[in-house]
Amino acid sequence: MTCRLSRHLIVGVAALVFWVGARPVSAAERPARDLAAGKAAYEQSCARCHGVDGRGDGVDAKRFYPRPRDLTMGVYKFRSTASGTPPTDEDVFQTITRGLPGSNMPDWQHLSEETRWQLVEYLKSLSPVFDQTAPEPVPIADEPGPARADLAKGKALYTQLGCALCHGAQGRANGPSAATLVDDWGKPIRPSNLTQGWNYRGWSASRDVMLRVLTGIDGAGMPSYTGAVSPEDAWQLAYYVASLHEPPHEHRIARAAHVTGALPQTVDDPAWAAAESTLVRLRNAVSSDGEWVDPPTVSAVSFQVLANEDIMVLRVSWDDPSEDNADALTLLLKPEATRGDVVTLHAWPYHGAPRLDVSYWSAGRAEAFELLASTFEDAVERRGASVVLASAAVYDDGRWRLVLQRPLQPAFPAGAAVITPELFAPFAFAVWDGGKPGARAVSPWVDVALGPVQPHSE
Ligand code: HEC
Ligand code: HEC
Repeated sequence: MTCRLSRHLIVGVAALVFWVGARPVSAAERPARDLAAGKAAYEQSCARCHGVDGRGDGVDAKRFYPRPRDLTMGVYKFRSTASGTPPTDEDVFQTITRGLPGSNMPDWQHLSEETRWQLVEYLKSLSPVFDQTAPEPVPIADEPGPARADLAKGKALYTQLGCALCHGAQGRANGPSAATLVDDWGKPIRPSNLTQGWNYRGWSASRDVMLRVLTGIDGAGMPSYTGAVSPEDAWQLAYYVASLHEPPHEHRIARAAHVTGALPQTVDDPAWAAAESTLVRLRNAVSSDGEWVDPPTVSAVSFQVLANEDIMVLRVSWDDPSEDNADALTLLLKPEATRGDVVTLHAWPYHGAPRLDVSYWSAGRAEAFELLASTFEDAVERRGASVVLASAAVYDDGRWRLVLQRPLQPAFPAGAAVITPELFAPFAFAVWDGGKPGARAVSPWVDVALGPVQPHSE
């Protein structure tokens, strides 16, 4: 047991050194190339996504966004090298070691360093590019350090260089070109939402962002800015991008704030300042043939809850790159009779699934309403007894904010979820970006406490 623990500790520390210092790995530490070993490791760990031959067509590939890479093309996104040249071996080693957080590419730290190097060799053998073109590291400047960050300059560069055309003025992936991009693999691709540092595919440390700007993201339509921006200024741009990050505030238990008397009716009411915000990540439901139709656009919702003795009010916000009448959100609660964790929303509705308490809002309707539903269509089409809920919504520069009011213990619809301060109330959300009616993004259940709970230790 102790032995195990300390090994983990050492691995952890080594990983930390690797990340923080981006420790260059000297050739002496690398094992001799052994393609058979690399192939064996690839077949065991990588083929189900990247495909037996590396063409990005593994059995699981279709439901991922972005798709697992076709490694035979030799086009790599996350490099330290000039656009159009292959990555360095260290770049590929880092990708395998760290994974790509905002995508379905896992990290592989549990594979030995030797195995990871053999994987690098094997991946290189899949494309002739590595024999034909030498990697050309882009010139980079020493990190000035956050104390020398010049955010005004970074912001000016962001505007001048046209970053906002794709990423949007505030980084919410809602620029005018955002919906028009197609990647080298023929699939639509969206610019990253730069406010969601936790969801970057290629990591969000300033060094990573500085490299993205100088090298571009080959295959994904993000140009390289080497020549357009100096290596020093690329750091300033990276610091500005870091200033756009919003803290993710993920809580296992979300807390409501208590209010005596009147509850806020609008999204900008100063009363919201008293309420804790909780971010919930969403997962895009894929179509029935197991494939995503369009790139997922909504990755998370943040919500706050204020309540008095009788009524709760939620303020929910989520980034959606375009305003549309079919944009919609539901708050899901478990009806009074439901027991236990019977429903995972990712699967719901399934055969024999219980009805859920659905509060449904959409941009195109005058009012929000609540009903008990067996499917999402029931809610959308308002099938069954429903009651109207007070609501107000505002769309501004790529973000919806919605205020939704609901009694804690409603008399209607019959069997509706009852919320009491003594018990945690499970909340979940489903969001539709209007451009794609078939696709929805759903959250896991989050426990919400109306009564007092221990403060978070953050
Ligand atoms: C669960 C699916 C999955 C598995 C398993 C998987 N990958 Fe990936 N991989 C992905 C996805 C998805 C991407 C594309 C990410 C993106 O475009 O942001 C990717 C991208 C990559 C890239 C491209 C990085 C770049 O710069 O463009 C490399 C290299 C890679 N994977 C190596 C591996 C190796 C090696 C293994 C096995 C040890 C592996 N992957 C296993 C899903 C997977
Ligand atoms: C023509 C559209 C376009 C322009 C202009 C553009 N980008 Fe991007 N950018 C993208 C796309 C598309 C992606 C996502 C690539 C992917 O998912 O693989 C991206 C990704 C990124 C990422 C990586 C985030 C991640 O998920 O790892 C950063 C950082 C970034 N862009 C910053 C910038 C900055 C700063 C500028 C201006 C200097 C800029 N971009 C200009 C299209 C663009």
